[in-house]
Amino acid sequence: MCGIVGYIGYRNVSNFLLEGLHRLEYRGYDSAGIAVANGADITIRKKAGRVQELSSLVDECPVEGTVGVGHTRWATHGEPSDANSHPHSGGNGEIVLVHNGVIENYSALRSQLQQLGYTFQSETDSEVVAHLLAHSLFEQVKLGCEPSETDTCLKAVEVALKKLKGAYGIAVLFRDCPGVLIAARNGSPLVLGIGDGEYFIASDASPLVGYTDEVVYLADHEIAILTETGMDLLHRDSGRQTPSIQVLDQVSTDIELGDFEHFMLKEIHEQPTTIENAMRGRLDFDAATAIFGGLNMTLQQLRTVDRIVLTACGTSWHAALVGEYLIEEFARIPVEVEYASELRYRNPPMSDRTMVFAITQSGETADTLAALRECKRKGHSTLALCNVVGSTIAREADGGVYLHAGPEIGVASTKAFTSQVTVLTLLALYFGRMRHMSYQAGSSIIRKLKEIPEKVEQTLNCDAAVKEIAQKYYGMNNFLYLGRLHNFPVALEGALKLKEISYVHAEGYPAAEMKHGPLALIDEQTPSLFVVPKCGIYPKVISNLEEVKARGGPVIAIACEGDDRVAELADDVIYVPDVDECLQPLVTSVPLQLLAYHIALLRNCNVDRPRNLAKSVTVE
Ligand code: G6P
Repeated sequence: MCGIVGYIGYRNVSNFLLEGLHRLEYRGYDSAGIAVANGADITIRKKAGRVQELSSLVDECPVEGTVGVGHTRWATHGEPSDANSHPHSGGNGEIVLVHNGVIENYSALRSQLQQLGYTFQSETDSEVVAHLLAHSLFEQVKLGCEPSETDTCLKAVEVALKKLKGAYGIAVLFRDCPGVLIAARNGSPLVLGIGDGEYFIASDASPLVGYTDEVVYLADHEIAILTETGMDLLHRDSGRQTPSIQVLDQVSTDIELGDFEHFMLKEIHEQPTTIENAMRGRLDFDAATAIFGGLNMTLQQLRTVDRIVLTACGTSWHAALVGEYLIEEFARIPVEVEYASELRYRNPPMSDRTMVFAITQSGETADTLAALRECKRKGHSTLALCNVVGSTIAREADGGVYLHAGPEIGVASTKAFTSQVTVLTLLALYFGRMRHMSYQAGSSIIRKLKEIPEKVEQTLNCDAAVKEIAQKYYGMNNFLYLGRLHNFPVALEGALKLKEISYVHAEGYPAAEMKHGPLALIDEQTPSLFVVPKCGIYPKVISNLEEVKARGGPVIAIACEGDDRVAELADDVIYVPDVDECLQPLVTSVPLQLLAYHIALLRNCNVDRPRNLAKSVTVE
């Protein structure tokens, strides 16, 4: 949700800024801009549209300087337009800033600043911050402070930030103090990169890859003061901080397309490896259980857990649903799956022995973070299942498990989903073996899990068949996705994928619920996609499928190899390898990802950057 970059050092800054914005574009892509301080002035180039368009603008009208900031926007306040794009200037250009987040009291502040004579060029909440900072600087100067001194700039920022309500990650340039760059955070992520005589700022670590591997994750209410010669870190309440420097382990191939046309396709194809990575070192064949190093809870504490709340948004919420089925089945612990956006305000009764698990690829989703904080405040043990190392949720939870899936760039989540399901399967096994599950049952699950990467590799061979099916159906405007038990969340996730990237209306349902309403939607223009691999209630799902066929609806089925019965009934079949019922989502979700991908391509949609969406939703 908006991406920020910043740099101070010796390089000509615009290349780093533009490259960084390209890497952060998954966070928002309505408009983009950069600002470069060059001695006496700050030059801004900004534009509605993609970062590519900004790059062309900068090619036509280059900017030079060694200090700068950049921004790629996901609009919250004000439409995507040149005027609303960042950077924004404050006062008479004394301040230039980029902002990620939402300022809740912007309207009151805007009126106050207008009364003081500040003129607004945009409809954004961010411009309010720029003018507020300019005003704060003006007040400092009135008190006799020098605008060219770093301390004056810092004081102005400290005073202004106290007036803001809401979330922000900001990076600020000062016209009269060009050798300083100040960044501050409350609620929106920022990471600092430390180079040799240079410093970097970014919303996540991806722009820093290839430039430095030493990073510092800024905490809420921290301000970083960067100059060419050093870095200072201050906390609003506890003053000067010693930066905790961490080593970044990303390599540039993680964030490059390689031979693939889109990141989504690359990430779909990475799944055999990412599932393997999610299991690496976590399978204990001798004890027939899973191993987790970071839960930070004793066996005793874990044994007393009598309820688990899984909270998440979007695709992660679907993974949580699979987790619910598995944990209840393997461990007999009651599980609730809560939308984080609801849980943060809902206040459901939760006993002392309820454990809360936040599931999030990015580790930055604002609603998930707020739900986690609320549960922590109430004294519950909180764990996180995250992909992004060092993300806010990973740092704030009491303990957790990393997915190790590598950066996920495509806005529609694919490999993170299967990695989340893999880890949730391991957690279910772990809790199960701690309670009722026998050695034999545990051992059998581990053996079958071990085979999953190979099975997913085989599943990817369905691509050609999926492409043909996409050709046949891509013009249709309504789809139903149906599955039962473990494959019900898969149906929901398949429908979400199609909605997200091809803008086609799709509904996911438990197949047996069709007769309670959605069956009325069936006609020859409404395909139903049945996820119907071999399972205990296979005949029941087949009956649901026949009900749709009897009403003239086209049926696409995801079925196990060699399933002739389905082949007779369905119009089209995509075959997947037969795997144990409880592991099916890891396999059956793959053709649905591919189907959404191919339909989106045929409808000329931007697969990696779907309209109106962003990868990391750091606003409420
Ligand atoms: C956004 C993304 C989804 C993602 C959801 C939750 O809406 O577009 O793909 O599933 O956020 O993200 P998280 O990082 O918390 O898993």
